[in-house]
This record gives sequence, structure tokens and C-alpha cells, in this order.
Amino acid sequence: MIRIGLLGCGNVGHVIARHTEIVPVAAVYDTVGSRANEIGEICGAAVFHDFPAFIEGDFDLVVEAASVEAVRRYAGEVLEHGKDLVILSVGALADAEFRHQLSETARKAGRRIYIPSGAIIGLDNLKIGQISEIRKLVLKTTKSPASLGIEASEKMLVFKGTAADCIRHFPKNINVAVALELAAGREADVELWVDPDIDRNMHEVCAEGEFGDIHITVRNTPSPDNPATSYLAALSVLTLLKNLDNPIVIGT
Ligand SMILES: NC(=O)c1ccc[n+]([C@@H]2O[C@H](COP(=O)([O-])OP(=O)(O)OC[C@H]3O[C@@H](n4cnc5c(N)ncnc54)[C@H](O)[C@@H]3O)[C@@H](O)[C@H]2O)c1
Repeated sequence: MIRIGLLGCGNVGHVIARHTEIVPVAAVYDTVGSRANEIGEICGAAVFHDFPAFIEGDFDLVVEAASVEAVRRYAGEVLEHGKDLVILSVGALADAEFRHQLSETARKAGRRIYIPSGAIIGLDNLKIGQISEIRKLVLKTTKSPASLGIEASEKMLVFKGTAADCIRHFPKNINVAVALELAAGREADVELWVDPDIDRNMHEVCAEGEFGDIHITVRNTPSPDNPATSYLAALSVLTLLKNLDNPIVIGT
């Protein structure tokens, strides 16, 4: 069974730490020491308060559940230390040059980078866009104003444009758009809405191509500790980890 190191001990980190029957957590690290201590206690992992010591730990794979900034800062080092990497803050890969460099680092080190489906469903088969044209790819995300730090008394559009532009304005909230683009191999048109009357984050994905068309609506239960994060995202990481060793690979 693989052992993981957890980079980021927030909301997603908590869910992972509470499921050690799926994957044992060997080590944890967070810039906020008290959060690392708390998670270490929950899952019995070794707690580290600096990255260089953490990355020397005895585990096979790092799960990044921290921030776009953490990916930019540490992802290369993780791979160079001979560990695979799961990236949840996939917005970091919107930067094509950084993505290319990271991919080369992984290749040279013989390691792999995994992008979980995160807060949506359908990422697997959208990869057909890499071999067959997808003419239209639209992501419409609707969240509560509070989760974006905005005040609004009625439903309103706060952003319309490409994923690369959206992530510059809302770096914590648009990982899904970048994941969609990487899967489909083309840019997505993104709309970000706020609605004071919703209690669930909603992602609507529309795609049209030679294959036909799809319309997926995902209404995510927000995590109790952090309304900006969907419970589905944490579950998708756990599922990815559970299946890493499975000889039967479904839905790729
Ligand atoms: N791909 C998806 O669909 C998807 C879905 C949900 C969340 N996310 C992303 O996953 C990440 C984790 O989500 P969360 O809800 O657990 O966030 P969170 O804010 O609850 O927790 C993040 C934790 O990481 C720590 N951290 C941040 N930068 C760090 C760094 N440079 N080094 C070490 N620790 C650092 C913070 O102190 C915090 O404890 C976020 O970036 C979020 O945007 C992606």
C-alpha cells in the first residue's frame, strides 16, 4: 500500500486524514504549524514544520491540498525527491511554461503527476477532445457571494472570459476550469456567477463536438469547515489514491 505525505492541512487535508483506512498518511506539512499538529494527531502522521525536512520523509507520493502558490513553489522539488504528486490546486498549471517545466521534471525523475477530477464529474471522457475536435466548451460556475468574498443581494455575473484570466482574479475558485481545459486540450469559456440564494456550489459543463454533446450539472455539498470547497473534491482525491494500485483502470 502506498504511503502519502500531505502538503496542506486545511479542509481537504482534514477529510483525507480521517480516511487512513483508504491510504495511510506518513507525514504532514502546513505553513500554519497548529493546523499540521491537529491533522498529525488525527491520522498519526509525523508532523513537519518546514518543507525540506518534510520532503525527506518516508512516503511515495505527495498530495498537494494547499494553494496555487504551494504548487509553484514545491512541485518540482517533490518530483526531484523521487515522489509522485497529486495536484489539487490545478490552477497553477494554467501557466503553460510552468506546466511544461514540471512535466519535464517529472519525466526526467520517472515520476507522475495526477490531477484528480476534483469538484466536477466528467473530466475522464472529455479527454477525447485531445483526438477529436470539441467545438464548444463552457463552464458556468455559481457560488454564494460569501465564498468569493463578495457582497451581492441578487444573482449576478462576476466574470466572463477565459480560464487563464479568471484564475488571475479568483485564484482559489476556478481550479475546475483549468482541469477541464487540460483534459479537453482546448480553452474553456468561463462564466462565474454569485447567487445569495444557493446553498450548494454549482458547476455546469457544456461541451459539443464530433462525439455529440454533453450537459453536466454538479451541485456540490460545501464542506462544513470551508464553504468555498466542495466535499466532492476531497472524495475524488481519496478515490484516486484508492485506485492507484488497482490493475483494473476504469474511466480514463
Ligand atoms: N481541483 C478542484 O476541483 C479543487 C476543489 C477544491 C479545492 N481545490 C484547491 O485545493 C486546495 C486546498 O483546498 P482546501 O479547501 O483544503 O483549502 P484550505 O484553505 O482549507 O486549506 C489549505 C491549507 O494549505 C495551507 N497552505 C497554503 N499554502 C501553503 C504553502 N505554500 N505551504 C504549506 N501549506 C500551505 C494553508 O495554511 C491551509 O491550512 C486549494 O488551493 C483549493 O483551491 C481544488
